[in-house]
Amino acid sequence: MKNALSLIEKLNQEKKLEMEEWIFLIENRREKIAETLFALARDIQKQHFGNKIYTRGLIEYTNYCKNNCYYCGIRRDNKSVERYRLTVEEILDCCRRGYALGFRTFVLQGGEDGYDTDERVEEIIRSVKQRYPDCAITLSLGERSYKSYLRLYQAGADRYLLRHETAQKEHYEILHPPELSEANRKQCLYNLKKIGYQTGTGFMVGSPGQTPQSLAEDLIFIQELNPHMVGIGPFVPHHETPFAKEKGGTVELTLYMLGLLRVMLPNVLLPATTALGTIDPRGREKGILAGANVVMPNLSPLGVRKKYELYDNKICTGEEAAECRQCLASRMKEIGYELVVDRGDYKEEN
Ligand code: SAM
Ligand code: FES
Repeated sequence: MKNALSLIEKLNQEKKLEMEEWIFLIENRREKIAETLFALARDIQKQHFGNKIYTRGLIEYTNYCKNNCYYCGIRRDNKSVERYRLTVEEILDCCRRGYALGFRTFVLQGGEDGYDTDERVEEIIRSVKQRYPDCAITLSLGERSYKSYLRLYQAGADRYLLRHETAQKEHYEILHPPELSEANRKQCLYNLKKIGYQTGTGFMVGSPGQTPQSLAEDLIFIQELNPHMVGIGPFVPHHETPFAKEKGGTVELTLYMLGLLRVMLPNVLLPATTALGTIDPRGREKGILAGANVVMPNLSPLGVRKKYELYDNKICTGEEAAECRQCLASRMKEIGYELVVDRGDYKEEN
């Protein structure tokens, strides 16, 4: 077995590694190795994006969910959440404020809400696109049929985020009730890509039952899928879920995984997530310095922010969108990066 540094070099050259090599890199990470990895990841990020950071305005438009994922704060069995769903007018209002602040991508995210028929989501997409034709729409509504994904794409949706959560069947079964399967989740991702969406996958770092082997399987799955976006953030426990007493993911491992992803997929759109900012006050800055190039501030109306609490102590639930944007702009500036007004589409490698 080669040493960790030479494996990072191999990853940089070949853009893939064998299972045992990934496991070795994950198990043998040390501060010095991480520093080398992040320096390389930043070089690659700079080559592709300069010092530009893309923003996406996140609109959490429904917290109803028919699913019961063991980690998630808005799971069906959490009876202490007050449920809400925004009207089309309320969503448009979020977009109006977001547009004025410089957002050119709106991410419409929600639980798997039975109210979200294709007709309703199509109406939302068409209304947003009609008013903001220069903006991209990203959907993040969970698992739907091929036909449904196709209809929403034809209605004008550009991108879709659906984290695979974990690529390993046994681990998937630790995180989810039996009616959800890792096979279907992956199939949805292949369907989304085939239809033509800019497709995002991802996983939580440090979720219960995760191992170096399962993380290696995540990386191999991502390498095969070759997505346009990868969202990863630490697992953070939520007090009203079966995982309330579990340990959360660490900043250190999350950053390391971000660095590996940047080296494996040089032009991928990689957010420094809110969950990372939740477990470390400088988490998002550290994420950018480990290779991330996207931030996703919240555009949801203040009145609903606390009701979309996927995990405890989620940040930015009390700030106006404008404050969040300004706060992030100055955080990025401090570390030498700049928030830009741009759709921030995926670009094939030149
Ligand atoms: N329903 C859609 C779906 O399933 O993709 C979108 C909403 S779901 C809440 C968005 C993401 O939140 C999930 O993919 C999951 O990775 C993340 N998430 C949920 N609970 C979390 C927790 N306790 N800690 C960190 N991330 C969490
Ligand atoms: Fe449905 Fe979390 S269980 S969004």
